[in-house]
Amino acid sequence: MGNVTVIGAQWGDEGKGKIVDWLASRADMVVRFQGGHNAGHTLVVGNETYKLSLLPSGIVRGTPSVIGNGVVLDPWALKAEIEKIAAQGLSITPDVLMIAETCPLILPIHRDLDALREDASGAGKIGTTRRGIGPAYEDKVGRRAIRVCDLAHLGQLDPLLDRLCAHHDHLRAGFGWPPVDRDRLKRDLEGIADFVLAFARPVWRDLDEARRRGRRILFEGAQGVLLDVDHGTYPFVTSSNTVAGTTGSGSGMGPSAAGFVLGIVKAYTTRVGSGPFPTELSDEVGQRLGERGHEFGTVTGRQRRCGWFDAVLVRQSAAVSGITGIALTKIDVLDGMETVKICTGYRIGDKTYDYLPPHAADQARAEPIYEEMPGWSGTTAGARSWADLPAQAIKYVRRIEELIRCPVALVSTSPQRDDTILVSDPFAS
Ligand code: IMP
Repeated sequence: MGNVTVIGAQWGDEGKGKIVDWLASRADMVVRFQGGHNAGHTLVVGNETYKLSLLPSGIVRGTPSVIGNGVVLDPWALKAEIEKIAAQGLSITPDVLMIAETCPLILPIHRDLDALREDASGAGKIGTTRRGIGPAYEDKVGRRAIRVCDLAHLGQLDPLLDRLCAHHDHLRAGFGWPPVDRDRLKRDLEGIADFVLAFARPVWRDLDEARRRGRRILFEGAQGVLLDVDHGTYPFVTSSNTVAGTTGSGSGMGPSAAGFVLGIVKAYTTRVGSGPFPTELSDEVGQRLGERGHEFGTVTGRQRRCGWFDAVLVRQSAAVSGITGIALTKIDVLDGMETVKICTGYRIGDKTYDYLPPHAADQARAEPIYEEMPGWSGTTAGARSWADLPAQAIKYVRRIEELIRCPVALVSTSPQRDDTILVSDPFAS
């Protein structure tokens, strides 16, 4: 029994929540290793719906859960999320939630900067979640972040603030904003320190111990491979590495920790925010996908852009992220369509491509080359075995497998946990 890493193989929002919840109920530990509260995972447990942004999904079932060093942590958002979950009857204690002492903090000044830059960028704006994710990661690699461990040494904040403010005050002045209110920032940090420190630990040691004891660890990715800062549709990406290769560096484990890499793949494509999207549909088919798939962002409530399945992009995601098998989600949204299309290549100018070239201008001009298949009239919703699926739906799934060069490990046919066709168990592989 090895570890499992779950990542989105498109632009996020592939329906990771349900799959992660199912796997988390069988894992000994759940670990978030990148991103922050820009993520949005919806978990339906019994009659209760939980919406998590920062907390690892294991928390809902009491599985020990880790926020790794690769995450950027907004302590006030953490407190609000824990209080929200508590109001739903779940108390989050330090036995269940462990936070890496080396996590960089997202501060109010990061949120300010995210919004200021987006507002000033005109047509070049990225469409971020405005949660300060990018600026917080910049400060981390710029070596001026305040980290969780700094909350235990509040008397020594001044040199850190000197370095941080020297940078931010210039940026803010450029936007016509006043310098950072250092006293207020200090007071805010003093006010939240004890709350965060109660969960802070050298989590790398807990994870090492878990590994030595043969415990099953589930790594829970956020966003998707196409939003990866290196491999995604740059610059329209998030500021972290979302690929499975980040599990080790983002948690404090070795490179082999990832185990079975399960790529979550939606049976069509969606995207929130700006950036290229070759198979986007601005007609009534796209609208229908959005309505039937309830395609609204969990975090920002923004309407998601919708389009046909893009096999070129998913094949690329599978390659750069070492995906072992995929979980295909939301196939029921395609029920009743007369025909379905799959993108198998792009035409850019007079050239054709079987991958997405890296330049944003080429990506923006990429015209999809489609393969068309008949749709199916029966329903896939609630199917629990291949025999429950219409023959044409099975052909669609098999064609996807062929085109992306990756096997299907499971097919999810509704938000309910049991409505799943299990082909191979990631934990048993
Ligand atoms: P940021 O992560 O807030 O900087 O946003 C950068 C880009 O990533 C924007 O296009 C966001 O819409 C997108 N993004 C960030 N988090 C998620 C997510 O959890 N799901 C889908 N898109 C996301």
